[in-house]
Amino acid sequence: MAMVHPRDRATFEAHWIAALEDPNVTARAILADGALVGYVTRFPANGQDAVGYWIAKEYWGRGIASRALAQLLSLVTTRPLHASVARENAASIRVLERCGFVITKYERSPETDRYRACEVATLVLE
Ligand SMILES: CC(C)(COP(=O)(O)OP(=O)(O)OC[C@H]1O[C@@H](n2cnc3c(N)ncnc32)[C@H](O)[C@@H]1OP(=O)(O)O)[C@@H](O)C(=O)NCCC(=O)NCCS
Repeated sequence: MAMVHPRDRATFEAHWIAALEDPNVTARAILADGALVGYVTRFPANGQDAVGYWIAKEYWGRGIASRALAQLLSLVTTRPLHASVARENAASIRVLERCGFVITKYERSPETDRYRACEVATLVLE
């Protein structure tokens, strides 16, 4: 969603150690021109399979997230897949729609320890 409160380093590392050991998570590093530029993942969220991704800012706007998500969708063939995105994150919604996801609803999401309050778009790939 990107409307997140950043994790501190210890929490970030604990999160990723657990995620990489979780058989329900499919996570891949994204390489561009030999550099590590981000990640793309399928993970369980509220009983559903969800996707997420993150690209280093200096690599935005080169189609990297769109290609990475398309490759993940070839690797992960279970459907449906879900995504939650801050409505104002137009680039991320565009990435998902290019890969076939469809917006099913918008709703107000409250402030939490992890997320900032914002309007959230829910998308699904059937
Ligand atoms: C969102 C994010 C993943 C996009 O990565 P990226 O590699 O730049 O994405 P791509 O280049 O593949 O595609 C971006 C698309 O959004 C479009 N776009 C970019 N900024 C936009 C804006 N402000 N409004 C509308 N469209 C926009 C681009 O034109 C492109 O569409 P196109 O290919 O049809 O031209 C990246 O900005 C990011 O990592 N952000 C921080 C983390 C995040 O938001 N993760 C997703 C959480 S749901």
